[in-house]
Amino acid sequence: MCGIVGYIGQEQAAPILLEGLSRLEYRGYDSAGVAVFDQAAGTLAVRKAKGRLQVLSDQLHGGADLNSTAGVGHTRWATHGAPSDVNSHPQVSRSGRIAVVHNGIIENYAALKTFLLDQGVPFTSETDTEVVAQLIEYFYEGDILSAVGRALRRIQGAYALGILCADFPDQIIAARKDSPLILGHGEGCSFLASDVTAILRHTRRVTYMEDGDLAVLTREGITCCNSLMQPVRRKVVQVDWEVDAAEKGGYEHFMFKEIMEQPEALRRCLSPRISKGEIIFEDMALSKDFLRRMSRIYIVACGSSYHVGMVGKYHLERLTRRPVEVALGSEFRYMDPIVDQHTLVIVISQSGETLDTMAALRQARQLGGHILSIVNVVGSSIARESDQVLYTWAGPEIAVATTKAYTTQLALLSLLALWLARELGTVSQEEYRAALAAFQELPGKLEQVLARRDDIQYFASKYFNHNSIFFIGRNLDYALGLEGSLKLKEISYIHSEAYASGELKHGTISLIEEGTLVVALGAYSRLFPKVMSNVLEVKSRGAGVLALTTQTHQEEMARIADAVMTIPEIHELLLPCLGVVPLQLFAYYVALMRGCDIDKPRNLAKSVTVE
Ligand code: AGP
Repeated sequence: MCGIVGYIGQEQAAPILLEGLSRLEYRGYDSAGVAVFDQAAGTLAVRKAKGRLQVLSDQLHGGADLNSTAGVGHTRWATHGAPSDVNSHPQVSRSGRIAVVHNGIIENYAALKTFLLDQGVPFTSETDTEVVAQLIEYFYEGDILSAVGRALRRIQGAYALGILCADFPDQIIAARKDSPLILGHGEGCSFLASDVTAILRHTRRVTYMEDGDLAVLTREGITCCNSLMQPVRRKVVQVDWEVDAAEKGGYEHFMFKEIMEQPEALRRCLSPRISKGEIIFEDMALSKDFLRRMSRIYIVACGSSYHVGMVGKYHLERLTRRPVEVALGSEFRYMDPIVDQHTLVIVISQSGETLDTMAALRQARQLGGHILSIVNVVGSSIARESDQVLYTWAGPEIAVATTKAYTTQLALLSLLALWLARELGTVSQEEYRAALAAFQELPGKLEQVLARRDDIQYFASKYFNHNSIFFIGRNLDYALGLEGSLKLKEISYIHSEAYASGELKHGTISLIEEGTLVVALGAYSRLFPKVMSNVLEVKSRGAGVLALTTQTHQEEMARIADAVMTIPEIHELLLPCLGVVPLQLFAYYVALMRGCDIDKPRNLAKSVTVE
C-alpha cells in the first residue's frame, strides 16, 4: 500500500519526511517522492524517483538540498500506471502550484480525466492521483480548502490525501475516505501519516481521521471539518505502541494482519469493477470475435496461485462451457501443451515474477495463446509481458504465505468467469444477477468469518500436535482443500495432503488409522451428502474429523464430526473465497502454537525467481 507522511513546523522538513517514509517501507512500494514549500521562491519543490527510497534520499543528500520547514512525502504502491518517475507521487496540477500525495483508488478517475481533458487540462502521468491534483486546481479560485472540498464531492473511491498549495505555504491539507490517515500533534508542529509508525519518533499524540474528514495542519495546531465543511472536533489519543509493533499495525505477524485485511483488499479489488449491475474490466482486450472463436482456456500458475486456478476451472467450465486445463508453471513448459490462437491463457501470480510461471507464459505466447494475467504487483514482469492484465489491488503482501492475494485473485478470476459467461451468452440473467450480488456481499461475510476467529483458535489448540493432517473434499471443496493443506504445511511444517474425498477409497484410505486428523470440507452444498458419507468412512477407521461447512449444514455435520467450522451461505461462485479464511486462520494458529517463524517459514521465499 502507499505510504504518506506530512510535516509542518520549525525544523527542516525533508529529513523528517524521508525518515518517516523509511518507517513505511514495510508497506511495500516501487517509487518515492517529496514536495516542500520553497518559501524563498514562493513555489513548490517536488522531487521523486522510481525504486528504493534510498535513491531519492541520495539525490537529496538526505534532504539537505531542500530548504523548507513544511512538506509531504510518499511511497507509491502502483495501482494505476507502472512504476516510473512520472507516475510517482507527489502529483502536481498543471500550474505546479498544487501537489498531492494519495493512498487509495479513485474509482471514477477515467470519467473525471475525460472531463478535464475536454476542458483542455494536460496530463503527464497515467495515475488516478493526478486527476485529483488537476481537479482541485480546476475548482481553485483562491480558497484552497474550498477547492479541495468541491473536488472531493466529485470523487468516488478510497483516498487518503496530503495536499500542498504554493499560495498557502503555512498549511497542509489532509483528507480521508476509506484509506486510513492519521494526524500527529507536536509542539509548534503538526504531522500527517498513513500509520503511526512514520511519526512515532516525533509525537505519540495522534488523531485518527474519520471518513469524509478534512484537516488543515499548521505550526499552531490542526483543525478538522467534515465533508460539509462544518468544523468537527476529533479525539487526540496517546499511542503506546513500540515502533516495530506499529509496523504490523499492532498485529503480531504480517500474515495475521493480511488475513484481517482481506475484506478491505476485496473491496479495493471488486468495487471499481462492479457498477450499476454490470462488470467493468477497463481496457479489456478480449474481442467478441476472439471470444466467439475461443476453443479452450488454459490456466497456468504455481503454488497458491495454482490452487486459485483449480477453483477457477470448476467455475469457468460450468459457466462458459469451454474446456479448461490447469497446469503448474513448472510442468506446462515440458508437456507440449495444446495452445493456439484460439486459446485464452490465464496466468496467475501474486508477485508477477515467478520464473516457472513466466517461462510458461512465454511458451504459451509463442504457441499463439492470448495471455491474460491476474497479478498483484503492478508493472511486474508477468504483467508487462501479458496481452492483458487484471490487477488484484490487494496491496503489498509481506508474509511468505499468501492470504489476501489468494482471495483477491480468486474473486477476480470468479468475476472474470462470470463476465466471460455473460459475453458468451452461457449464463442466465437470473444467475448473473444473483452471482453479482454475492460479490458485493463477500467482504461483509468475510468480516463475519473473521469475527469468529476465536473458534478457529480453539480448534487449533486441540489439533496442533498432529504430525499428519488430511484435507478432503469434492469439486470446489477439493480445490479449496489444496490451499488449506498448503497453508498448513508451509508455516507449521506439519505433513498434510489434500485429497478428492471420493478418491480416498482407491488407496490412500490405507493411511487412515486411529487418531488420524481429517479436515473434511463440505461447504459445497450440491455434494454435501457425499462428503457426509466420506466423513463416516474415515470416522469408521478411527479418524478425528474437523469439518468445514455452511451454517445451513452445521447441525447435520455436528452429529458425526468431532468439530465443525462454519461460514455464512454465499453463492457457490464465492464459496472458496469465504471457505479459505477458516483454513488460513487454522494454519496460522497451529503454527503460532508450534512456535514457528510464521512470516518467514524455513526454505521459502516470497517470490520464487529460480527454476
Ligand atoms: C503460497 O503461500 C506460497 N507462498 C507459494 O506457493 C506461492 O503461491 C507461489 O510461489 C506462487 O507465487 P506467485 O503467486 O507470486 O506466482
